[in-house]
Order: sequence, then C-alpha cells, then structure tokens
Amino acid sequence: MTSLNEIEGRLALITGASSGIGAACARRLAKRGVHLALTYSTNLDGMRTVENDIKAQNRSLRISIHQVDVGVPDQINHMFQEIQEIHKQTPDILLSNAGYGKRIPQIWDISLEEFDYTINVNLRASFILVKGVVERMKKQRWGRIVFMSSIAGYGGGINGCHYAASKAGMTGMMKNLSTRLAEYNISVNDVAPAMIGETGMIPSAQAIPEVAAGIPLGRLGTPEEVANVVEMCVQTGYLTGQSVLLAGGLK
Ligand SMILES: NC(=O)c1ccc[n+]([C@@H]2O[C@H](COP(=O)([O-])OP(=O)(O)OC[C@H]3O[C@@H](n4cnc5c(N)ncnc54)[C@H](OP(=O)(O)O)[C@@H]3O)[C@@H](O)[C@H]2O)c1
Repeated sequence: MTSLNEIEGRLALITGASSGIGAACARRLAKRGVHLALTYSTNLDGMRTVENDIKAQNRSLRISIHQVDVGVPDQINHMFQEIQEIHKQTPDILLSNAGYGKRIPQIWDISLEEFDYTINVNLRASFILVKGVVERMKKQRWGRIVFMSSIAGYGGGINGCHYAASKAGMTGMMKNLSTRLAEYNISVNDVAPAMIGETGMIPSAQAIPEVAAGIPLGRLGTPEEVANVVEMCVQTGYLTGQSVLLAGGLK
C-alpha cells in the first residue's frame, strides 16, 4: 500500500455508530488504527458498548462519542465544534451512515412531515456533513467520503417512496461530488445495501419473512460484510463515483 492509501492515524467521523452497520464499520476502522468520532441519537448504551470494546482493544486510539439528531442542522454544527475541541481537527474520513426509514408502503399514508423528516435525516444531513469536512480535506488534498445509501434508491425497496427518494438522492449527490472533488484527491462513493440483519432496521429474517425468502443468496447480509465494502472504499483512493450494491443478488 502506498502512503496515498494509508489510513492508519486518520480521523473518521461515523454517524449512527451505536448499532448495526455503523457499529461494525467503527470496529473495523479501529482495527486499521483509525481514530474515531462516533455519533448516536438515542442508544447511549449501544454507543458505550462500541466505545468500550474498541478502547479495550486499542488504548492508543482517540475515540469520542457525540449525541446528534442529524435531522437538526444546529446539532450537527455543535458536533463539529466538539470534534474540533477533542481531536484538534475536522475528520479526514466521513461515513454518513445514520439513517431513518419508517416502513409506510403507500404514498397516501405518507405525511408531508414524514417525507421531510426522512429527507432531512438521510439526504440533507449528508450535505451538511460534507460541508463540515470538506475544507480540511481540500487543504490537505486527501479525503474519503462514503454515504450509506440503499437498494431502495435503485429498485424502490420495501419502505415507501420517501425512503427511496432520500437514498436515491444520496447516490445522485455522491456522483456529483465525486466529479467536483476528484481534483483535491477526495474520493466519494456510496454503499447501497439490502437486507442486512443484526441491525435496528432488520433484526433478523423473521422480521421480514416474505422479503427474506426472496433473497437469491438465501440469507440476510451481515454488518461485517458492509464494513468490508466501506473499508475497501476508504483504503482505495482510485475508487470514486461508485455506488456498490451489496444485496445478496436482489435487484
Ligand atoms: N439494515 C439494512 O438492511 C439496510 C439496508 C439499506 C440501507 N441501510 C442503511 O444503513 C444505515 C444504518 O442502518 P442499520 O441498518 O445499521 O440500522 P440501525 O442499527 O437501526 O442503525 C441506525 C443508526 O442510525 C442512527 N440514527 C437514526 N436516526 C437518527 C437521527 N435522526 N439522527 C442521528 N442518528 C440517527 C441510530 O442511532 P440511535 O439508535 O442511537 O438512535 C443508529 O445508530 C442507515 O442509513 C440505513 O438506511 C440499512
């Protein structure tokens, strides 16, 4: 690996790291010697478990946790102030992973408030987060940005149109940003998973039996498999502008 792709000693911001995919990504990047700023919204116990596990494995890592509702811009700005105070820098790596999606299949049941909130948490927050990290990345000519999108942005998914629109918007923003930020050596990609178990969204196959039965690989994905792809994205600077569908063969 060349220094272009060295991630040890970098600082990663991972939103929604208190459970599921975000927690697995935090554990993975910690193994690679990446310092961490991790966010949670309501699950402090889950966040503390992740923090303590990582600290027990590597005492030399700097790790901070921050309570943020990413649907509220002031809270994101406050989080960046905390990160600056604790780490004396803004992040080198951003994983915008915190996400929300209430399963409301039909448009006539989706309120305007639900639509707006979903867009704010999934899409608008990613925009604000990128604005918070991009100046340092530009200046140092090194940065990695990964959005946690969804198969819903491709095939519609099992949630409603509010969730699909928010995730497809993330992929559109990723594609635009990747072209604009490439000259600064900042890569921008997204991971678009489907049916990842052991998460708050999908605890197990029993939670969605009719969908689980239709997965060509015959099982749910795991948070560790998503972490594999995120790790690949952050350690491979030549990879940019890509949306990696991780869906067990689902379309
Ligand atoms: N599981 C899947 O099959 C699947 C498929 C496609 C995409 N995804 C995406 O993967 C990402 C992670 O989800 P997951 O499956 O790992 O589920 P999860 O275990 O429920 O994790 C969701 C995380 O997002 C945080 N979060 C939710 N709303 C938030 C808000 N308003 N502000 C800040 N943080 C918030 C949660 O924090 P607290 O728990 O602390 O409140 C939690 O840390 C999401 O973006 C989701 O859309 C998941």
